Amino acid sequence: MQRADKPMRDIVKTGHGPGLPPSPWLLRFAGLVPAGGAVLDMAAGGGRHARFFLDRGHPVVAVDRDVSGLADLAGRPGVEIVQADLETGGPWPLGARGFAGVAVANYLWRPILPAIVAAVAPGGALIYETFALGNERFGRPSNPDFLLRPGELLDAVRGRLRVVAYEDVEIGEPRPALVQRIAALAPAAG
Ligand SMILES: C[S@@+](CC[C@H](N)C(=O)[O-])C[C@H]1O[C@@H](n2cnc3c(N)ncnc32)[C@H](O)[C@@H]1O
Repeated sequence: MQRADKPMRDIVKTGHGPGLPPSPWLLRFAGLVPAGGAVLDMAAGGGRHARFFLDRGHPVVAVDRDVSGLADLAGRPGVEIVQADLETGGPWPLGARGFAGVAVANYLWRPILPAIVAAVAPGGALIYETFALGNERFGRPSNPDFLLRPGELLDAVRGRLRVVAYEDVEIGEPRPALVQRIAALAPAAG
């Protein structure tokens, strides 16, 4: 599969970029992430969620194949920027590291869903929100490779994480879209 949906870049420019505030879903469930624990922002873009957690006192790891939007964070204490193409089929760039929080917004690469779930450390939280099938009627992304199937986030965490909240909804802001979103907790160690 190849990411042919170039207009994803346009989304970055028109409403999902560094200037955009954290997603309301992430804001609502950020408190699930244990205080001071490291947070992974997958496909971080401009790092709006990495920045949010950094401001809350969490060290952050921000991963993207294009880290230009994170340049101003480079070298800042508590920030690790990982430039990686997540869609090559190569090794997961974070090895066996676990995170108190894993945030994913507006990104889907189906083959790495299991690795994303596995990156949630015991007691940690996954907060994930992205476009779902049906979004094509609103515009991009419209490629089914980049759209969640019904219940797919629930399926991804089943048996691994406890679901705190889940929605499969049409939203109006920052623009009309169909999204699925989940907040889920990994069982505590021991
Ligand atoms: C729509 S943006 C979302 C950015 C951020 N998560 C947010 O919500 O503000 C999608 C991000 O996925 C990144 N991306 C796309 N393909 C990627 C790949 N193959 N490997 C790593 N990152 C990728 C893009 O560079 C972009 O930053």
